[in-house]
Amino acid sequence: MAQMCCSALPPGLNPLRTRAEATSPSARRSSGLRVTAAAVEPGATVLVAGATGGVGQLLTAKLLDRGYKVKALSRNADKLQQLFGAADGLSPALADLRDASSLPAALEGVDAVVCCTGTTAFPSKRWDGGNNPEQTDYVSVRNLVHACPPSLKRFVLTTSAGVERSGKFPFAILNLFGVLKYKRMGEQELEASGLPYLILRPNRLTDGPYTSYDVNTLLRNTSGSRQDVTLSLHDDLMGEASRIAVAEAIVQSLALDFVEGRRYSIGSKEGDGPGRDPAKWSALFSSVKEPAAV
Ligand SMILES: NC(=O)c1ccc[n+]([C@@H]2O[C@H](COP(=O)([O-])OP(=O)(O)OC[C@H]3O[C@@H](n4cnc5c(N)ncnc54)[C@H](OP(=O)(O)O)[C@@H]3O)[C@@H](O)[C@H]2O)c1
Repeated sequence: MAQMCCSALPPGLNPLRTRAEATSPSARRSSGLRVTAAAVEPGATVLVAGATGGVGQLLTAKLLDRGYKVKALSRNADKLQQLFGAADGLSPALADLRDASSLPAALEGVDAVVCCTGTTAFPSKRWDGGNNPEQTDYVSVRNLVHACPPSLKRFVLTTSAGVERSGKFPFAILNLFGVLKYKRMGEQELEASGLPYLILRPNRLTDGPYTSYDVNTLLRNTSGSRQDVTLSLHDDLMGEASRIAVAEAIVQSLALDFVEGRRYSIGSKEGDGPGRDPAKWSALFSSVKEPAAV
């Protein structure tokens, strides 16, 4: 059940006012309205931007498996068909995030948005046609954030470890063409939007990207002996993160209200980890605390 908590409302605002009554993200921002704690339960419709990517494929398969409906956003209808066919609960949403006019149709009827789009950090074939980090990690994210209805219950954005350390080794090398700078700018658009958000910052991704597997095959993948998960509220992790763990963390986070408005760094390590157990994930997310002020 979605819950609302009014403790974060500024004085003078009607505590019974909901997000849906606010007119736009910018209006909510300027009013200071912040109604926290809405969980996104199975049965809800989630738009997955980057559904054909490594994390996105796993996430789409996991969401469908847990009873969510998925609008799979991609620029490529054939890829969507090849990956997911006519999976129950899935509908395609053809759009290019760089083109704001393609987004309203994709966002129709959506309760939550997860954005796990990306491109390469260094010049590659994937940059052809204007798909560089500035367009992909900043302009596209900004377009998606601005196209979201104010009634949206959650926007989960996947960025990267190092977004706040882009001038420090080794991240300065990764950031030579600005990928971390633009990812941080994308985060800032979301933070300033007034939308209820969660940001996940994975370490270097392992496992996948699994392109061309079907939904059932995707669900059978494991990260071997490194299934445990490290979370931090600071951009202070190093190492790797399994795409399987990142996708699972996103699914599990949707049903948790207290994660809203937080930025979690995520890494993988040796051990069994929380698996698919909601209680273990809830304990893991809530165990990560800001250090007490001195
Ligand atoms: N690789 C790493 O080690 C690493 C580390 C930390 C964080 N990350 C970040 O984690 C996230 C997931 O990474 P991944 O490797 O799983 O992703 P990925 O396989 O590179 O997939 C990226 C997805 O984004 C889509 N996309 C790109 N531009 C788009 C646009 N303009 N409109 C619509 N879709 C667009 C791609 O679709 P198309 O097929 O149409 O291009 C693809 O489905 C990304 O944000 C990535 O930058 C990666």
